[in-house]
Amino acid sequence: MRTPLVAGNWKMNGSATLAEAFGHAFTEATLPEGLEVVICPPFPYLEAAQRAFDGTPLHLGAQTLNPLHSGAHTGEVSGRMLGEFGVRYALVGHSERRQLYRENDEQVFDRLLAALSVGLTPALCVGETLSERDAGHTMEVVLRQTGFVMSRLEPEQRQRIVIAYEPVWAIGTGRTATPKQAQEVMAAIREHQARHDHELASGLRLLYGGSMNADNAAELLAQPDIDGGLVGGASLKVDDFLAICQSAS
Ligand code: G3H
Repeated sequence: MRTPLVAGNWKMNGSATLAEAFGHAFTEATLPEGLEVVICPPFPYLEAAQRAFDGTPLHLGAQTLNPLHSGAHTGEVSGRMLGEFGVRYALVGHSERRQLYRENDEQVFDRLLAALSVGLTPALCVGETLSERDAGHTMEVVLRQTGFVMSRLEPEQRQRIVIAYEPVWAIGTGRTATPKQAQEVMAAIREHQARHDHELASGLRLLYGGSMNADNAAELLAQPDIDGGLVGGASLKVDDFLAICQSAS
């Protein structure tokens, strides 16, 4: 049995006040049994969020991290620092980081290793652009991004990661992948891993991301290979995010 996980990625949005609102709402909320819920706020709100989430089922995640532990790297934040604020998860390879900050597979891998080295659970984000989908290259792109990382990890490390499939054309566009499209790709990711390690593949948690909202979450989350969601825009509204969490089981 895979533990379902819903993560909210606030990106460069939100506030300490929003963190408090989440804390209040989730103190009272009834969630599906066993569901893990994570919020990834911008770094400056981590302390406020840590305080606000205390005593709630909410865990903290980071949106990125530097591959190193410390040093002369102006503007960067290390996994060790994140751990001091109770952060347990870290996104790596989000398409916005790959596209806007030119992160390549090697850099994504280094960040993922850094997360593992300090005990964080990395969520590796993969996904194709619209032109790659239209050209029929979806599987090739997604399996390359996934394979690059998985093939370089030790078996024990592979068990500690989560993979988020986020078609780039569905992110922030309101154009969600259909449950069938998402399931197809996510089943392919799992099958590909199963060729190397069947047990690992059946325990691997796969999240869908891309315009997930309170209306479409239940159908997406009901797909056999979708174990949760990585939610952007809808994670900025307490009620919407709570509704998404409640539709996961
Ligand atoms: O990290 C979250 C994803 O990029 C999805 O964002 O829900 O706003 O499309 P979105």
